[in-house]
Amino acid sequence: MTMPPSVVITGTSSGIGRASALALHARGFTVFAGVRDLADAEDLRATSGGGIVPVRIDVTDAESIATAVAQVEAATGMAGLAGLVNNAGSGAPWPMELVPLQVFREHLEVNLTGQLAVTQAFLPLIKRARGRIVNVGSEGGRITLPFLGPITVAKHGLVSVTDALRMELRPWGVQVSIVEPGATRSRAPVKLVDHGRRAVAELFTARGRADYGVTFLHVIEKIAAGHERTGSPPEVIARAVVQAMTAPRPRTRYPAGGHARLLTRLRRVLPDRAMDALFLRMLGVDRASSTGV
Ligand SMILES: NC(=O)c1ccc[n+]([C@@H]2O[C@H](COP(=O)([O-])OP(=O)(O)OC[C@H]3O[C@@H](n4cnc5c(N)ncnc54)[C@H](OP(=O)(O)O)[C@@H]3O)[C@@H](O)[C@H]2O)c1
Repeated sequence: MTMPPSVVITGTSSGIGRASALALHARGFTVFAGVRDLADAEDLRATSGGGIVPVRIDVTDAESIATAVAQVEAATGMAGLAGLVNNAGSGAPWPMELVPLQVFREHLEVNLTGQLAVTQAFLPLIKRARGRIVNVGSEGGRITLPFLGPITVAKHGLVSVTDALRMELRPWGVQVSIVEPGATRSRAPVKLVDHGRRAVAELFTARGRADYGVTFLHVIEKIAAGHERTGSPPEVIARAVVQAMTAPRPRTRYPAGGHARLLTRLRRVLPDRAMDALFLRMLGVDRASSTGV
């Protein structure tokens, strides 16, 4: 009897990762569901009849990655790994003038360096299966909104990592794609507002609060409200992940959900200042500064 193909997904405790784990399992994959706390994937394991296997992965912790690789290798043997979905990510909004450099570095670690660390560690198993890598980027890897700089810098970097890997891994038949979600309904928008409020109250300097506080909170609340209003359910993004993992000839990029397709198209045709004006208007920033909203 042949074993079903196996995939590893990071960040499956909620949102897009969790929806992707369920969708790939439904397509017949054995899913190694990466979580920082194994209890977070217990219900996934319980409902899947053993087809979803929780595995502890913190993408910033080399030891947890190495342990996960050993566990997956023991389970997959010579068949190797058919796919890796680098989905884990998190971000807090900050004005670029104020973001503490340590916080900026942590954003790169969780959203960019961590994805490469996981990829490097699993590549021997992926090459064995001529498998696939699917990075979960963001429309924020193509466009930049004010105050989301620390996360969008990392997502822009992930586009480049994806492009480099795709060309470099061609000799091994390893396909590499990026799924680029637009606004998606998950815990992320709530976390964004919580982080933002806490930063203004506890971490901004008095000067920073005076310079940015009102506009900053106005913008992130507007972004979060937009996610709630027009965001896609995570299952929409999970469908793109499944396509990238199963299409006979996968596309290099999958803009998915929200306004991802529209915004990335606009980015290609509009000059920078026109994009700036569009975003500032959309976010009501001019109004906020002139009326003290
Ligand atoms: N929601 C959106 O609108 C949106 C838009 C564009 C792109 N994305 C991208 O989609 C991906 C999934 O986000 P989501 O919206 O589904 O948000 P989410 O529900 O907050 O899920 C994020 C996942 O990443 C995990 N994670 C965070 N830090 C980690 C670390 N150091 N190591 C391993 N796992 C870690 C979280 O685990 P814990 O539970 O342990 O924190 C959680 O499982 C992210 O890469 C995000 O940037 C989301």
